[in-house]
Amino acid sequence: MSTDAQASRPTLLVTRRLPAAVEARAARDFDARLNADDRPLGAADLVARADGVQGILCAAGDRLNAEAIAALPAGVRILATFSVGTDHIDLAAAKARGLVVTNTPDVLTDATADIALLLMLGAARRASEGERMIRADAWTGWTPTQLLGTHLGGKRLGIVGMGRIGQAVARRARAFGMTIHYSNRKRLPAELEEGAVFHADPEAMLAVSDVLSLHFPATAQTTHWLNAARIDRLPPGAIVVNTARGSVVEDAALIAALRSGRIAAAGLDVFENEPRLHPDYRTLDNAFLLPHLGSATVETRNAMGFKALDNLDAFFAGAEPPDRVI
Ligand code: DGY
Repeated sequence: MSTDAQASRPTLLVTRRLPAAVEARAARDFDARLNADDRPLGAADLVARADGVQGILCAAGDRLNAEAIAALPAGVRILATFSVGTDHIDLAAAKARGLVVTNTPDVLTDATADIALLLMLGAARRASEGERMIRADAWTGWTPTQLLGTHLGGKRLGIVGMGRIGQAVARRARAFGMTIHYSNRKRLPAELEEGAVFHADPEAMLAVSDVLSLHFPATAQTTHWLNAARIDRLPPGAIVVNTARGSVVEDAALIAALRSGRIAAAGLDVFENEPRLHPDYRTLDNAFLLPHLGSATVETRNAMGFKALDNLDAFFAGAEPPDRVI
């Protein structure tokens, strides 16, 4: 690249450490400020580091609330988030400020659906209890009644939110012999439904959900969607799986139901107030817990980074970014 071309590159703040190939491309195409030590930036730090930049490549875990957005330097024009979820960005505030926001849909669908199945299996087959037993050197050998779980096969899976990830979960669950029920704002066409039973009312679906898997965005309207009343509608001994966002589950209600056995087990990859999840989850043998690994594969994280950069490239070239949210 000529010195002139280098000098005219847009300035970009990258808030977190990204895969090496993504950072290399960011450094080649942008005047990029990377976060080499991967220190999470508080709002004040993020705003300070954004001084003089035109774009921010941010991530889930950054807190771009209305206050932070209002405090961003005037030169910032785009927030390209390294995530499909945008709940860490106050979109109304970003829109009011005239910021463009982009995300990274599609490329994390399969990885996230895989984790949903891992959670279902882990919860149903008591995988973390078994693992802990071995690590604690407490396994005294095979017995006919040790750590008995339950089959996924023959069970009814209720999927709330049948977007890309919900559909990918349904495809995988079918291979395990599950019957698929779903609720969604709109009914899917038959070729995408593939025999899944549509419920216009998610409340009605709860009663037939032996396993319930959540796949809808976190918004003000969906906060604590899975509350005590909805848990009560599930069949006794149901399993709950969450790969969406922690805030859509009311922790106290789920914890009480796991403690009483009303819910047999939960598989959770996301938590309200990550990483400071409700401490009681750690005390529950029937909670299978992962640290937000939904999209955590090398392939997926590379693809997410390249998608974020594609959006930035398009924006700074004066074109419409392919994954523009606002
Ligand atoms: C997303 O993309 O929203 C994920 O939760 C981050 O992996």
